[in-house]
Amino acid sequence: MANQPIHILAIAGSLRSESLNRKALQIAKKIAFELGAEVREMDLKTLALPVFDEDLRAHGFPEPVVTLKHAIEAADVLMIATPEYNHSIPGPLKNAIDWASDKTNPFSGKAAAVFGASNGLNGTLRAQIHLRQVLAALNVELVPQPQIFIRSAREAFLPDGSMVDSKLMKQLHFLIQETLKLAQRKNETK
Ligand SMILES: Cc1cc2nc3c(=O)[nH]c(=O)nc-3n(C[C@H](O)[C@H](O)[C@H](O)COP(=O)(O)O)c2cc1C
Repeated sequence: MANQPIHILAIAGSLRSESLNRKALQIAKKIAFELGAEVREMDLKTLALPVFDEDLRAHGFPEPVVTLKHAIEAADVLMIATPEYNHSIPGPLKNAIDWASDKTNPFSGKAAAVFGASNGLNGTLRAQIHLRQVLAALNVELVPQPQIFIRSAREAFLPDGSMVDSKLMKQLHFLIQETLKLAQRKNETK
């Protein structure tokens, strides 16, 4: 990597305290840190965004929305671990994206790494397809491969926080590495 560290904003799409996606996010954060990136996590539960409402915005963006917009602006890469709810992305994550992209689009030109954990056999495949589509609308670029699906996620993590499947760990490492390279290339052409 070049001299300037890549800044990552890491977000788990679940508010649940025992979230499996937050576990996956911690692994990805560690990988990114070891690859030389600077990582900041934004916790959607702590942020406590209101439900998106244009009438609310008419009085100015609520403070958590301003915080989120600034955090996205300051990042080169978004790292999102998404659960799958009813074959799509969870409401709180979509709510955050909608608020953050309202009026101005701080996402535009960023790179993103997306992955997810679910109890099902598809490992958030359908949610990730939707999330990629939403991010494409916001002019966010993702590497096409690898895609990380953490299936049967209740059994996927070891007590030390690592993943049982070492191949999947390697793939996650590769995803982060490729995304950092993409962000580096984007920064060089700015
Ligand atoms: C409302 C709801 C809908 C869900 N729909 C799906 C689904 O479509 N596919 C799936 O694999 N898991 C589904 N699940 C199970 C989640 O994958 C599981 O709860 C997962 O642990 C959530 O992520 P978290 O651990 O990060 O909170 C659903 C769970 C909830 C609460």
